[in-house]
Amino acid sequence: MAQATFYFPKGFLWGTATAAHQVEGGNTNNNWYQWEQEGHVLPGHSSKVACDWWSGRWREDFDRAAESGQNSHRLSVEWSRIQPAEHRWDEDALDHYRQMVRGLRERGLTPMVTLHHFTDPLWLMHLGGWEYEGVVERFEAFVRRVVEALKDFVDLWCTINEPNVYASVGYVLGEFPPGKRDLGSAYRVMTNLVRGHAAAYHAIHTVQPEARVGMAVNYRGMLPARAWFPPDRWVAGALSKTYNDFFPRAAHHGRLNFFGRRQSIPQARGTQDFLGINYYTRERVAFNLLAPGNLFSKRFYDPRTEVSPTGFIANEPLGFYQALKWGLQFGVPIIVTENGVEDSEDSLRRRYLIQHIHQMWRAVNFVWPIEGYFHWTLVDNFEWERGWTQRFGLWELDLETQARRKRPSADLYAAICRQNALSSEMVTQFAPELLESMFPG
Ligand code: FCB
Repeated sequence: MAQATFYFPKGFLWGTATAAHQVEGGNTNNNWYQWEQEGHVLPGHSSKVACDWWSGRWREDFDRAAESGQNSHRLSVEWSRIQPAEHRWDEDALDHYRQMVRGLRERGLTPMVTLHHFTDPLWLMHLGGWEYEGVVERFEAFVRRVVEALKDFVDLWCTINEPNVYASVGYVLGEFPPGKRDLGSAYRVMTNLVRGHAAAYHAIHTVQPEARVGMAVNYRGMLPARAWFPPDRWVAGALSKTYNDFFPRAAHHGRLNFFGRRQSIPQARGTQDFLGINYYTRERVAFNLLAPGNLFSKRFYDPRTEVSPTGFIANEPLGFYQALKWGLQFGVPIIVTENGVEDSEDSLRRRYLIQHIHQMWRAVNFVWPIEGYFHWTLVDNFEWERGWTQRFGLWELDLETQARRKRPSADLYAAICRQNALSSEMVTQFAPELLESMFPG
């Protein structure tokens, strides 16, 4: 068996990603808490305490991140805390976040701050949420406040997390609030998300010219189920274009294309200093005339791939490589803003992590401009409508006692971060079953 070490470029960012509502606890003034109260989250599951960061447990978790070799962390700020009512700002909440990002710097972790990660203040939802035209200036005002408050510690910003998930799951599939199934509403929301992103981009650069600003898109690999069958190729292509390409294209060219409906938003042109890619999995897509509600598609995982415990994610590392390749077309550096797998037993995660980082290393070796990787996530957290059934953490969380227990993958990831490399020794220690295929000869 060959021995090898796959190095990453100097200064590569290694971290984990989190989101306010999933870790803070006590966020009762936003649409997700209301959604939970209305019974749309798995019964018995609540975001009420989460990882208890708001009471101060962020400190111990940031220690964990720093002590395990990470040099960066991606977190989000909660709009409904900072602006609890339309005409009220909470300086204490801003100060709390200032302490957190200072806490990251003090531990040698470069912060990336996401300004919108799925949740919206209730007052905004009463005005119509992202369907309401005035959302753009409201979001811009919020972003200015945050950037003014945090700019001494933060210069890497992610405007909106997964606008494509926000619009499709909330307004087409109806599984996220507000639970609509309406393509017209979805398109209005998508348009305002692009405008909101553009307004935020320009506002951030006005306050902090040296800032680097991007958004994080959820890239889902979509392969035609039968490559020889033109309708499968057509539907996979159309879905991928709409789901994956819509937002980064809008931020690149300032143009929207929604199933052939076109529109120009000139102020969005050139509004990404980097492209954030959240990659989890890849699926097969077949044409299905009988499923108009599903945009004439049947989507499924390749039965030969290993799937996570709740069936949520198929382990498709090659899809990650393809996602990075796809990202090159936008001509800006790429940051992997999320990647990970739910696995309470931590057996698939070790393979998943090694195989995905291996594919990223291949990409880096073609000198593709990839600057960093944020694993989802540090400690098990509240996974939206799926509650606590999915465990994505490098650390396991006991929700009752708030105790954290390190999973083996945390040591694996620590070794990768510390050495800025993936080596055959690490594979021998954490997933020896991969040795033959990764290091033949
Ligand atoms: C992504 C979300 C993140 C987390 C992971 C598992 O779509 O951005 O908040 O829930 O999925």
